[in-house]
Amino acid sequence: MARRIDVGPLADLAEGTMRMTWVDGTEPILLVNVGGTVRAVQGICSHEYFELDRGFLTAGTLTCALHLSRFDLATGDPLDPPADEPLAVYPVAVEDGRIIVDWPG
Ligand code: FES
Repeated sequence: MARRIDVGPLADLAEGTMRMTWVDGTEPILLVNVGGTVRAVQGICSHEYFELDRGFLTAGTLTCALHLSRFDLATGDPLDPPADEPLAVYPVAVEDGRIIVDWPG
């Protein structure tokens, strides 16, 4: 069942930065502030098991540091091989300065 989850204050996610958060301590979500817009995507690469907060950000894309596939943070789509599966993208809102993610459960 879907849940709305408070994953912390927007003030802790400066523009151009990202951080990992863990739903129920087990499910990783990567939060990214892209020019003032917060994105939430699955925290593990769709290619192999690798934490995406170890990658780097460029102009609305995230590059996985293991094999250098880039992903569009708005759609989750892979832009370069070897990844060929999109990242899950979760709806996110900012309410009263808090980041709220719709978690599908
Ligand atoms: S693990 Fe991310 S591109 Fe291979």
